[in-house]
Amino acid sequence: MTDRYAVIGNPVAHSKSPQIHAMFAEQSGQDMSYEKLLAPIDGFADTIKTFISEGGRGANVTLPFKLEAYDLADDLSAFARHARAANTLGFIGNQIHADNTDGAGLIRDIRDNLAFDPEGKRVLLMGAGGAARGILLPLLEARPAILIIANRAVDKALRLAQSNQHQPDASQTVLSGHAYEDLSGQHFDLVINATSSSISDALPPLPDGVFAPGSLAYDIMYGKGLTSFLAFAEQQNAHRLADGLGMLVEQAALSFHIWRGVRPDTRPVITALRQD
Ligand code: ATR
Repeated sequence: MTDRYAVIGNPVAHSKSPQIHAMFAEQSGQDMSYEKLLAPIDGFADTIKTFISEGGRGANVTLPFKLEAYDLADDLSAFARHARAANTLGFIGNQIHADNTDGAGLIRDIRDNLAFDPEGKRVLLMGAGGAARGILLPLLEARPAILIIANRAVDKALRLAQSNQHQPDASQTVLSGHAYEDLSGQHFDLVINATSSSISDALPPLPDGVFAPGSLAYDIMYGKGLTSFLAFAEQQNAHRLADGLGMLVEQAALSFHIWRGVRPDTRPVITALRQD
């Protein structure tokens, strides 16, 4: 019998995950289907239960349900526990296993696809919400020399930095939280936009001149054309620009590996989506 998987969200119509997983399944000859499931805003748990009762083997979870997915899990990976959010569920017997592949997917995209190694670099992470929290542990594991978290509501940046100061993975990194205005005169090799600003075409209040020569500007969002942050980065002479399409494919590949034990080849999938 074909194994069933799904992406569950609200809205979910825009999701590229079915296309991505269909390409992975074809590449690796896996007998599986992958569909979109629209859950009512107050009906995530019921949607999951029904899907499991119909033979669902696993699911990706997208906005706004990543926190509920975490709450529903019987068992959490370190990344899910740390992010307090889950984007990948596996259903085994009566148990729901939760993982979070977003941050590791971002690091894979940066390191493997963009050939940028964060180790020893100066990194700026913008945002201190769920997305930033999901990225932080894998980013610390990549051992930057300096990691600054910047947020408009500075208390959130301070708390996020403080609560991760004693992570074993943070021992190579000077980690701190700041307001955007503190960044004047500082330069970063990697600037990651993990705020939700691009959704509304807004821009975090970054001072001029933060992009070091050779720097990479990365927006975890993607869309047609440049996001407002990437357009700003271009004006500011950031050396390279990347949107979150590579991260999307890499987090999907990590989910696929969790479910199927197979590592798909992400490059042709990223190339195909770029041409869409
Ligand atoms: P998500 O799960 O997408 O991270 P969230 O938890 O609501 O969503 O967090 C949104 C993040 O985007 C926050 O860090 C928010 O900053 P504040 O805490 O200061 O509000 C950030 N954000 C949203 N719009 C922004 C903008 N226009 N400029 C800068 N930061 C923005």
